[in-house]
Amino acid sequence: MVCRRPAGYNGARMKIRSVPLAAASRGPLVFVLAADGGVPDGGPTLRAAIAAAKATGDLLTGARKVSLFHQPPRSACKRLGFVGCGPRAKICTEPLRRIAAVAQAAAEKAAVADFALLVPRAAIGDVDAEAAGRAIAEGLRLGAYVYAPPRRQKPKARSGQSCRIAAVGFAKAAAAAFARGLVAGRIAAEATVFARDLENQPSNICTPTRLASAARSLAGGRLRVKVLDRAAMAKLRMQALLGVARGSAEPPKFLVLEYRVPGARKNACVVGKGLTFDTGGISIKPAAKMDEMRYDMCGAGAVLGLFHALAHGGLGAHKPKHNLIGLIAATENAIGPSAQKPGDVVTAMDGHTIEVLNTDAEGRLVLADAICYAQKFFDPAVMVDLATLTGAVVTALGHEMAGIMGNDQKVIDALIAAGKAADEPLWQLPLWDCHRDQVKSKFADLANINGPAHGNGSTAGGAFLSYFVGDTPWAHMDIAGAAYGGLHKDYYKGGAAGTAVRTLLQWARTL
Ligand code: BES
Ligand code: MN
Ligand code: ZN
Repeated sequence: MVCRRPAGYNGARMKIRSVPLAAASRGPLVFVLAADGGVPDGGPTLRAAIAAAKATGDLLTGARKVSLFHQPPRSACKRLGFVGCGPRAKICTEPLRRIAAVAQAAAEKAAVADFALLVPRAAIGDVDAEAAGRAIAEGLRLGAYVYAPPRRQKPKARSGQSCRIAAVGFAKAAAAAFARGLVAGRIAAEATVFARDLENQPSNICTPTRLASAARSLAGGRLRVKVLDRAAMAKLRMQALLGVARGSAEPPKFLVLEYRVPGARKNACVVGKGLTFDTGGISIKPAAKMDEMRYDMCGAGAVLGLFHALAHGGLGAHKPKHNLIGLIAATENAIGPSAQKPGDVVTAMDGHTIEVLNTDAEGRLVLADAICYAQKFFDPAVMVDLATLTGAVVTALGHEMAGIMGNDQKVIDALIAAGKAADEPLWQLPLWDCHRDQVKSKFADLANINGPAHGNGSTAGGAFLSYFVGDTPWAHMDIAGAAYGGLHKDYYKGGAAGTAVRTLLQWARTL
């Protein structure tokens, strides 16, 4: 099936490629990364021009500072630019990602189609060469992304969408690692942009059906995609998911993405909450900022981003021992005449009955059936779910990190480590038996909320999910805060962040 991009899609891929130093030393604009102290090493072609720029006293090395020097006619490059990296000791992957995004923005502002970026050995400080390459490619691509809203006027073609990169003064092995990092970073960023673009679309454009076609657009090679419709879900008795979908005319979809790793015998399931809009249902949300509930499919966005990366070679040379299975429960939570009502009791696929005390705690309902589906058809060795599950996690942790909890410290630690490597911080919250006790119900096996007196909103959500997970090693990531609304940081300019795509890809490589 052909995937038709919705109106606003900022589809053109950015070109990011490693080239030999000589090829990156010429053109309309060459940027050199410049750490504090000494003259930046841009190689032989630009040595004199860089020394001359330095001698003016106007070459800025403060972190993210840009300085531009127009070159005399017939020079190798028309403009020689620098992006400062600050003191060497402070350089790590997150600043490099931002610095690369600053270079891209400056190239776009300079209205050049294509630019070059020279990365002297000193500019990456003590950062591992591959990690530096990854961060730089990510910064370039993520920085270039802006959501292009549907407008009458077609968006103009944009400058600065092609970049040639060369490492300068790297040892041979480090140069190779840096180039590998660039490829990995480009794939991770392209996947993140894919997720961001789905996440940013309004709910009447990015429907469950649209998510299904986005998933199908990734199928091929080792990746199989299956889509269940309402009837198929009813056959499987996914009544917790369908109970949420009842309130909307928009058809729900359940997406199954299977990436087969040669030789792998075990399965790792990655489950995403795909609420393309959450009104709250009968337990309706307040009007203010309700439009932001378009982002309630960001768990699904993360899963689709992961599979975008897998479909485009995101594992690189890594050979995980697990197949990767993506499961997405996609629906709206709306308030039509058939909407479920507070107090209704539904039965999940595994037989657990659930008292729906609050129709706005719908994420855990759809995830319950998605987790049951994973158990029944994939018997996972490890499972992770991602969801914009609770406002409480925003209160607890804000927008700069996601919450993580689960039943297996090794799985949690592996994800926290992956998040660290991707510069997407995760903070662990407890998930104890006392939390599990809070979601037992008088009128069913489980209630979908704990009492208002309990206070703990996020861990109650995790505790509810844990009943469906059973003994499977599992972690739950609550990305309600991290998914959107964070600080703007050069490679993120507001809206949906494509959160957790990079983390999941890092994690998948270690499975
Ligand atoms: N999608 C929301 C959670 C959310 C809130 C995401 C704010 C992003 C920003 C979720 O479905 C929800 O409504 N959760 C309720 C649960 C409550 C009823 C127990 C909440 O957090 O208020
Ligand atoms: Mn809700
Ligand atoms: Zn929700």
